[in-house]
Amino acid sequence: MPFDRSIKIAPSILAADFANFGAEVRAVEAQGADWIHIDVMDGHFVPNLTFGPPMVKALRKHVSTVMDVHLMISPVDAYIDAYADAGADVLTAHVEAGPHIHRTLQAIRGAGMKAGVALNPGTPASSIAHVLDMCDLVCVMTVNPGFGGQSFIDMTSKIDTLRKMIGDREVHIEIDGGVDAKTAPLVARAGADVLVAGSAVFRGGSVDDPAPYGENIRAIRASVEA
Ligand code: DX5
Ligand code: ZN
Repeated sequence: MPFDRSIKIAPSILAADFANFGAEVRAVEAQGADWIHIDVMDGHFVPNLTFGPPMVKALRKHVSTVMDVHLMISPVDAYIDAYADAGADVLTAHVEAGPHIHRTLQAIRGAGMKAGVALNPGTPASSIAHVLDMCDLVCVMTVNPGFGGQSFIDMTSKIDTLRKMIGDREVHIEIDGGVDAKTAPLVARAGADVLVAGSAVFRGGSVDDPAPYGENIRAIRASVEA
């Protein structure tokens, strides 16, 4: 996984057909997705429940880009090896999920994955000042996690601060929640390079009619490049 700061669109399968994930992933990659974002929720850290390691492992053979797994679970550490075994390329844990984010990031890298740390809207950039050297990705939540299709919360000043804190470290800034062709330019300008988008990518399309996925991805990319 070579590092670069070009814009990467990462469709969240939370907005895909839950009975057809394999085909949805293949369709959205064929339509231009750069990464695949997989939202794991436990009904405890967030008020919603999705799926766990066996589902992620089953999806691995359908993902030919980057499998980006976002854990909205607490605790995290006991599950890290299971996600390594499932084939996650990037594994992201929330800084709010427990008292020992330093240990968690160390364990994620130790298990051979890229380590991500996610920040809820109410959590300041300074909360990760002392773990930046242990991160490969910082995920700035622009909604309160738990559900797709929520409205974007403007976190531009946090992104800006993080971009400065990161300096020339090889750390991606990912934005998750309410990203569409209107909000993408704001976050890209502030320094984000990975744009997660669920409803804005899957809207209007299906496995049988995937062309809208491509149109939606191109619209987000064009909005950033304009
Ligand atoms: C929210 C998830 C997001 C979500 C984004 O808890 O982490 O990845 O799927 O969905 P949209 O793009 O619809 O806001
Ligand atoms: Zn997510």
